[in-house]
Amino acid sequence: MAASLSSSVTHISAYVAVDAIIKEEIPVIDLSILRNATPNQRSQLIQEIGQACKEWGCFSLINHGVPESLRTSMMEAFTEFFDLSEDERKEYLGKRILDPIRHEMGISTTAEGEQYSRDFVRIFVHPALHSPSKPLHFRAILEEYARQTREIANDLLTAIGESLGLDETNGHQILVGNRYPPSPQANQLALGLSAHSDTPLLSVVMQKGSIHGLEVMHNGRWVPVQLIPGSFFIHTGDLLEIVSNGMYKSLLHRVMLDDRSTRISVVTAMGPPVENIVAPAPKLVEIVSNNSVFPSIKYMDYVELVKYNPFGKSVLDLLRI
Ligand code: SIN
Ligand code: FE2
Repeated sequence: MAASLSSSVTHISAYVAVDAIIKEEIPVIDLSILRNATPNQRSQLIQEIGQACKEWGCFSLINHGVPESLRTSMMEAFTEFFDLSEDERKEYLGKRILDPIRHEMGISTTAEGEQYSRDFVRIFVHPALHSPSKPLHFRAILEEYARQTREIANDLLTAIGESLGLDETNGHQILVGNRYPPSPQANQLALGLSAHSDTPLLSVVMQKGSIHGLEVMHNGRWVPVQLIPGSFFIHTGDLLEIVSNGMYKSLLHRVMLDDRSTRISVVTAMGPPVENIVAPAPKLVEIVSNNSVFPSIKYMDYVELVKYNPFGKSVLDLLRI
């Protein structure tokens, strides 16, 4: 896929300029407040989360409770995986989108001739935990990191569901490790991952250090994401846009390469069980004058459509009624 968690092909050029003077700031949500809130504090925070999803499609998450030591171990384990010999990684290469472990290295070129440089490994971690067999300690770290980020994503999906007046469903978790090389062409726009949106409901992004790379589309401009140290970056996916009947748009994002540093990121995303049918929630259909903005579709079919999309247009846009 153009993107690790399945991406919607978009026609927004990767060369849209980043506006250097961006006054607005990506919202920040404190998970410890949500977890320990009085009913009043909770409804205030639910409103803030709903607003962040509506206006930005993303927010930074602080005080999330995942120890820095676990975050670092996960980063290091992915780095060690990428550093294995090709022979040790080859059983995961050349896989299809619904295979539980899929790995790619190097440069991909779009139909328009743009080149993207990224190594990634994408792993299904829940309900069944899959793991590469090397490095040896990878599985134990992956299991714990997946468990803790799943708790975070579940708490947030419950809150997002409340902000929409819905019960959320989730059940399938994917974890992706990305490695972006430094770009030698310092004065050219260097690309790691093309503009795309993620397929599932919600994504939880961790990156190593403060290396610039991730950018989000906001009000028609690319905004560089400056991660608060130790925080997670949370963003909406296509299924949330479908379930919310278009109220919470799926975040368009891309990754640029740094001119000097390798950037590692770990992204985990939650969706419903892959065999579930996804459709706009009836309550939200009523709100939009009894109008369903999307048809119902099996999650698995949506994933395949996005990956092997023959239409040259975002699947979400194609489905929009
Ligand atoms: C992705 O969009 O899947 C990767 C995001 C990142 O590397 O920060
Ligand atoms: Fe993504």
